Amino acid sequence: MVHFKKYLGNPMANSHHACQICINPKGLEELPQYIKELKKEYSCAVIISDENVFPLFGDAVIAAVNECHLRADTLILPPGEQNKNLITANFCWERLVTLGCDRNTLMIVLGGGVLTDLGGFVASTFMRGIDVIFIPTTLLGMVDAAIGGKNGINLPSGKNMIGTRYHPKLIISDPSCLESLSDHEFRSGLAEVIKYGVIDSHFFVYLEQNVSSILKRQEEKISTIIGRCSEIKTHIIEQEFQGNPQIRNILNYGHTFAHAIEGATDFKIYCHGEAVSIGMSCAALLSLKLGFVDQKFVERQDALCHKMGLPTFMSNKIPLETLMDFIKRDKKHVKGKFCLILPTELGKLSQVDHVGKEMILETLKEKQLVE
Ligand code: GLY
Repeated sequence: MVHFKKYLGNPMANSHHACQICINPKGLEELPQYIKELKKEYSCAVIISDENVFPLFGDAVIAAVNECHLRADTLILPPGEQNKNLITANFCWERLVTLGCDRNTLMIVLGGGVLTDLGGFVASTFMRGIDVIFIPTTLLGMVDAAIGGKNGINLPSGKNMIGTRYHPKLIISDPSCLESLSDHEFRSGLAEVIKYGVIDSHFFVYLEQNVSSILKRQEEKISTIIGRCSEIKTHIIEQEFQGNPQIRNILNYGHTFAHAIEGATDFKIYCHGEAVSIGMSCAALLSLKLGFVDQKFVERQDALCHKMGLPTFMSNKIPLETLMDFIKRDKKHVKGKFCLILPTELGKLSQVDHVGKEMILETLKEKQLVE
């Protein structure tokens, strides 16, 4: 049963901007129907996944592809953000050539945000773009990373520095895939969910009222939060298509700090969701210092993060100057001025230009744990 179908983007624009999102607890089972509905004569399918995810769901995807009378090849990568780089992308391109893939190859990306970022990038560049289906298998992937068309790989100097904008044909979010996630991974996805709550205050209240059933992964609640996050994100992207290019920056809430925290710790201490949670807490504190929000806002956001099991402070071992170096490289900054997405009230985020370096440093310092 399809719970939510959303046609993202302008159907009159080029076909690379058309994407349907399906939230379906039987999504994997019904994959053959989804492939057939694309109504295209594919030459073969290549499944890109990683060593952790493929053993869990790979057979189901291969069976679905075969049911569509397509040859299924696989490209299984080592897991982890540290592999989202040019070396892995190059390995994928070469392997696609070796497998005899052509412009009519269908790529299916099965995995979390790292894989949809990397797989989307490879799909968008191989032969100048081949069709791709995303099957996100993490909460983070379902609520955020798989949606929006931005993909990318990291450079040693920063996250997602190289990438393209390219929508998959289809995103199939099957909440039953989340049963295998560790609590740690599941909670990590909840940080992005809370970000959508800060964007939409009604959703924030929903989250506050449903913490325990969300943490118990009640299927109905999980489908609701995936659906709501998908709706909020697609609505923002639709506004971008309609001539509001800045609007999308609000999705970056907490991420300038988060990327700096991840970069400064070599992606080894915090998972992305933990870094986003600390990052949102930094942004909220900075906003308080600038007089945009009150103490109550900061406490309410931090409280929801804590209830969902997420941190709001970072280690005091991370050098402030290293964090600042990463913050300086954020793509939003214009002409050397710091631009940050900050809350002005629950449900409202704005891009604030010309934030002073001292103010950012002071915030980072206060958000470090005191021993
Ligand atoms: N793929 C993530 C985004 O476009 O925002």
